[in-house]
Amino acid sequence: MTRRLRSHDWFARNDKLGFTARGWMKNQGHPDSMFDGRPVIGICNTWSQLTPCNGHLRDLAQHVARGVIEAGGFPVEFPVTSAGETLMRPNAMMFRNLIAMDAEETIRANPVDGVVLLGGCDKTTPAIVMGAASCDVPAIVVSGGPMLNGRYRGTQIGSGTDVWRFSDEVKRGLISPEAFMAAERGMNRSAGSCMTMGTASTMASMMEALGLALPENAALPAVDSRRQLLANRSGFRIVGMVHEDLRMSRILTREAFENAIRVCGAIGGSTNAVLHLIALAGRVGVPLDLDDWARLGRDVPCLVNLRPSGEYLMEEFAYAGGLPAVMKEIAPLLHLDALTVTGRPLRDSIAGAECFDRRVIRTLDDPFKPEGGIRVLRGNLAPRGAVLKPSAATPALLVHRGPAVVFEDYDDYLRRIDDPSLGITPDHVMVVKNCGPRGYPGFPELGNFPLPRSLLERGITDMIRISDARMSGTAYGTVILHVAPEAALGGAFAVVRSGDMIRVDADRGVLEVEVPEDELARRLEGWRPPPRRMEGGYHGLYVDHVLQADRGADFDFLVGCRGTPPPQDPY
Ligand code: FES
Repeated sequence: MTRRLRSHDWFARNDKLGFTARGWMKNQGHPDSMFDGRPVIGICNTWSQLTPCNGHLRDLAQHVARGVIEAGGFPVEFPVTSAGETLMRPNAMMFRNLIAMDAEETIRANPVDGVVLLGGCDKTTPAIVMGAASCDVPAIVVSGGPMLNGRYRGTQIGSGTDVWRFSDEVKRGLISPEAFMAAERGMNRSAGSCMTMGTASTMASMMEALGLALPENAALPAVDSRRQLLANRSGFRIVGMVHEDLRMSRILTREAFENAIRVCGAIGGSTNAVLHLIALAGRVGVPLDLDDWARLGRDVPCLVNLRPSGEYLMEEFAYAGGLPAVMKEIAPLLHLDALTVTGRPLRDSIAGAECFDRRVIRTLDDPFKPEGGIRVLRGNLAPRGAVLKPSAATPALLVHRGPAVVFEDYDDYLRRIDDPSLGITPDHVMVVKNCGPRGYPGFPELGNFPLPRSLLERGITDMIRISDARMSGTAYGTVILHVAPEAALGGAFAVVRSGDMIRVDADRGVLEVEVPEDELARRLEGWRPPPRRMEGGYHGLYVDHVLQADRGADFDFLVGCRGTPPPQDPY
């Protein structure tokens, strides 16, 4: 026993509380040796059969546990709420903060000295990391890893990204509904998360860039035995981190977040990362806002040719060298002294990295796309900001002026989008309101709402869309998201009307509606907030406490680190 650990308050005592703590654990067959003062490692698992992307995490947990035991620790696996993108309604984001609360309180309430955080599907990763960060315990992330590439009729198909494409093609009559169904069977061929650079892969990459995961965490396929080895090494390493008291706050520094923002640009990462990193920074007291994203992402080119921005999928990314190869390429833009879970600086994690396929990972001198970072737009339509992902957008639309076609909410959009009387042309700017954190609890991924059928049939595949919604990381288009304040809170976005001229200048970060201020004020006098969709319960808590997109949509009462004060004995 090298130093006092918090688990000793439970297990290293000879009174009736020690008897109770040890004795009941022994009903699972744990030998006395597990209670000799060794570090107790929680394996925080978001496994659920209702989260298919995380369906293999109990297997992975066994590899973590083996590593913990090899290093002289005591592994204890525990579940937290899970959230799968594909099944949960209204959407998985609704539950990110709930999972974070679950993880935080479970860690703090139990004899856990360090945690291995097992996540995969989009929201599960930020959720458990946010929860653990509010406890500030030693923690290491093991991502579930992406699925093998989708295969269909001799071609590669990617999660999400090709669903949007197939769905548009069915609308345009280019493929049959039967072919659409056949593609569904070829897309998901193995355990794991989406194999595009969607939110799951982005967040796994962010964990590696932040220094919270071992090298190669981002890309190794879920079913690659090297992922099991990574889980084993992570289990081994967390024991050392506990001995070294290497807490999350020592890793999650301002420099680490700046590195993550740069890497997000280099991989063409999901816009959801903006929300999750701002929320995570809020948990550890690191100031981080949209201006940081605008400033740090601006000069980062997109190096990886992965869908939705490019051509390849995560399997090729792993074989090409994965994230260490990307970080080595952008090393001049990174803080290489940033500490990682290895106990050493980031510099050491990428020292031996190599690129094995320049079609997939390009160089700084010859990038895949000149700009990878997230653009931040502001103006009277979004005083607190909105975001756009240029690598997934049509360059010709990044500076545009056009009349608005406004839908008051998503139901209104569904009802009227194909109404010929709207007369929508490619020059119009489509606006959908009331999809923000409060107006549509959960803040849905509706921002890449499809174009009207009449334009799709003419071969038009993109036009400017603006909303207070989010967008799936697997989606693409010239889509302006996260408008803050959202329509449900009032402001110009709440009263923009069809026919108003909207000016978008992504180069200058401008999002304006060309309506005089006094006219906007007059409209706001008659504006009323939309009715709440549900009262009471978790939904009520969510609406009452969720922060706006520019604050990461965390709950106001969860911001900050509460640590792990000594446990209060029950009697
Ligand atoms: Fe789970 Fe994409 S749906 S990772």
